[in-house]
Amino acid sequence: MDADIKKVLYSEQEIQAVTQRLGQQITADYQGKNPLLVCILKGAYLFMADIAKNVSDYAEVDFMNVSSYGDGVVSTGNVKIIKDLDIDVKGRDVIIVEDIVDTGQTLAYLIDLFNGRDVKSVKVCSLLDKPEGRKVDVQVDYAGFEVPNEFVVGYGLDYAEKYRNLPYIGILKPEIYTE
Ligand code: XMP
Ligand code: MG
Repeated sequence: MDADIKKVLYSEQEIQAVTQRLGQQITADYQGKNPLLVCILKGAYLFMADIAKNVSDYAEVDFMNVSSYGDGVVSTGNVKIIKDLDIDVKGRDVIIVEDIVDTGQTLAYLIDLFNGRDVKSVKVCSLLDKPEGRKVDVQVDYAGFEVPNEFVVGYGLDYAEKYRNLPYIGILKPEIYTE
């Protein structure tokens, strides 16, 4: 697997440090509230676990699976709900936990969706931000790392369902997805 990686961008240790920092910020910002952490599957599954462990006290967790990509590397822009939440978000302080914000289309869709369900507030926590990929303007309130405009995998992020279990984040060799 490592042989498919062109360059390691962030090690396991660097990711741990960033999840601690973000968890502490969220804890400070949500004092006295019980935010709902919404993990966007599957990409954010590892990040969610680390964020949740670093957010103290009353946070609750739920999971949603949306898809826009299929197995390719280019966003299609039409987002589909594959698995919806179990918990009612009405009146809740929601924090969307994402793996990466690229075009911004998935996030824009989710923010509209949650506002339509009458949340009290909605904020975004994303491990990665790829600003060069942006097509719609969305704000990432809690961002881990900025990544270059290349396809990255690992720590939850996949290419055709592979590489999600790598403990680090790396740039995938382009020959893997152009073959
Ligand atoms: P958008 O374009 O809607 O994308 O902001 C959000 C979703 O697209 C996936 N994505 C990637 N997945 N490496 C990946 O493994 C990437 O470089 C990448 N860029 C976007 C991801 O699922 C994200 O939630
Ligand atoms: Mg995702």
